[in-house]
Amino acid sequence: MTTAIELKPSSHPLADAEREAILANPGFGRYFTDHMVTIRWTEGRGWHDAQLQPYAPLSIDPANMTLHYGQAIFEGMKVFRQADGTLGTFRPEANAERFQRSARRLAMAELPTEMFMAAVEALVAQDEAWVPSGGEASLYLRPFMIATELGLGVRPANEYLFILIASPAGAYFPRGLKPVSVWLSEEYVRAAPGGTGEAKCAGNYAASLVAQAQAAAQGCDQVVWLDALERRWIEEMGGMNLYFVQGSGDDAVIVTPELTGTLLAGITRDSLLKIAADLGYRVEERRISKEEWEQGNADGTITEVFACGTAAVITPVGAVKSAGAEWTVGDGGTGPVTARLREALLAIQTGQAADEHGWMHRL
Ligand code: PLP
Ligand code: COI
Repeated sequence: MTTAIELKPSSHPLADAEREAILANPGFGRYFTDHMVTIRWTEGRGWHDAQLQPYAPLSIDPANMTLHYGQAIFEGMKVFRQADGTLGTFRPEANAERFQRSARRLAMAELPTEMFMAAVEALVAQDEAWVPSGGEASLYLRPFMIATELGLGVRPANEYLFILIASPAGAYFPRGLKPVSVWLSEEYVRAAPGGTGEAKCAGNYAASLVAQAQAAAQGCDQVVWLDALERRWIEEMGGMNLYFVQGSGDDAVIVTPELTGTLLAGITRDSLLKIAADLGYRVEERRISKEEWEQGNADGTITEVFACGTAAVITPVGAVKSAGAEWTVGDGGTGPVTARLREALLAIQTGQAADEHGWMHRL
């Protein structure tokens, strides 16, 4: 196994003025930095040929197995400029471990954590000038892996390519911190027991797009997935986990759907369980039904709902629509518990609050 990353920096990075113009308004996932890291895996040889090289298109053979049968997994994490000017990334080892779990589920090669971290460190050191500063701006890292073997036989490939690219990021939702509206999907499901719901694999996102289009046709921003068997229990959103707030003030109880094997074990979700407890809230992981949501809304027991994830940070849910019902969450705005948790999370990520859980990895 080779861990050393060969450096082949670009002689043509983007001009400073062009990069600065992009950083002033990066949006999400629209621009990419000057470099990428690639590492190859071959059956019998393991991981090899780790390179930091200029960002460039890939040349892909039409018989590449991923193009046909979809062995493709990815991760998402952010690098934040810290209050003291250094750079830090949030819980990257947790992303490395989830990447390994996703690889196992898709019968792909597992990238060891130390190689995942070496790739992150090499790319961020090289493209440091691409990390925006201020507010929640960040450099979003996108590690991913595809098969590189050629052939049409349906079986696990014997060659893989890991790639790490980076993209400067502002807010995920173009309207900023405005509450989103959601559509409860009863026709389509994201994941069934025994399926790939717990893996961060490309196919899960491909399968979600038709429901996302249905949500848009209903005038909603995002889909909320229900469980496959009863179409009753709230699971998560397209790229975010969900949280419900019951009650208000210091007595508020923070509830999130329990991990059933069909939803993604979000790192933000896990972090918020701890941050909410640190702030003195009671936290619960349990099943929550769409009837409980609708009823809790009607009788005022559910006061706030928000979505959370790396890309979206914490985004309030302001309105809900399903085939048979429609309601506004609280007063349709951003509730105080949502705002408090968002602030507490971002303060840790940007180095403005003490990192009591040892989550920040300095770069
Ligand atoms: N659920 C799905 C389907 C996702 O794609 C994501 C994003 O990664 C999340 C939840 C949130 O996970 P995390 O907080 O680790 O970004
Ligand atoms: C993330 O939050 O990192 C995600 O992967 C969500 C989405 C962009 C797919």
